[in-house]
Amino acid sequence: CFKLSQWAGRAPAAPRHRLQQVMAVFEALPAWQRNLEQDGFSKNPFFHGIVAEVSDQHRTKDGHTKIGYALYFYSYSSWAGRAIYMEDLYVMPEFRGKGIGKALMSKVAQLGLAAGCNQLDFTVLDWNKSSLDFYLSQGCFDITATVGYHCMRCKGEALEHLAQP
Ligand SMILES: CC(C)(COP(=O)(O)OP(=O)(O)OC[C@H]1O[C@@H](n2cnc3c(N)ncnc32)[C@H](O)[C@@H]1OP(=O)(O)O)[C@@H](O)C(=O)NCCC(=O)NCCS
Repeated sequence: CFKLSQWAGRAPAAPRHRLQQVMAVFEALPAWQRNLEQDGFSKNPFFHGIVAEVSDQHRTKDGHTKIGYALYFYSYSSWAGRAIYMEDLYVMPEFRGKGIGKALMSKVAQLGLAAGCNQLDFTVLDWNKSSLDFYLSQGCFDITATVGYHCMRCKGEALEHLAQP
């Protein structure tokens, strides 16, 4: 008894607010919140979101009805072609184990396939055993273990430095 709704650019104001609410309960990311509006709902959004929502009757004790979300964007691999990247997948603790995480991820997969993507990519922290097991149970595999990929990042001063002409 939950429903999924998709958000993309030019979403109406109400759902946009709902996505913000759900994200606020996951990781408190102030910088993120500041840019959410611009990054997700402008003419050329950097990301898209799907929110899982329960009826009023099943709301949390704090009154939340938006209880999970997936955040994704499209990417590209010279090897595999079109790809979809899932940046976040989250279900509030009291709603886990009811098929909501799977439904959210399945929706991301569906949208990826519909857009001609050949793979769904994401990362998971090594201590997050429970999520790793969840992904493995969905037929995903660990490319760090099988292919030897390492996630790399450049940020802050190093990024500024790199960008110097
Ligand atoms: C990972 C997460 C999204 C899973 O959502 P969920 O709603 O609890 O998962 P579901 O109920 O949809 O589970 C779907 C399937 O995965 C299986 N599964 C779920 N958690 C599992 C686990 N820890 N180990 C093995 N299988 C698991 C279920 O048994 C179910 O299998 P079935 O389809 O054969 O019945 C949720 O636990 C979560 O939000 N965790 C915290 C946030 C997080 O760490 N996100 C990932 C960041 S990379």
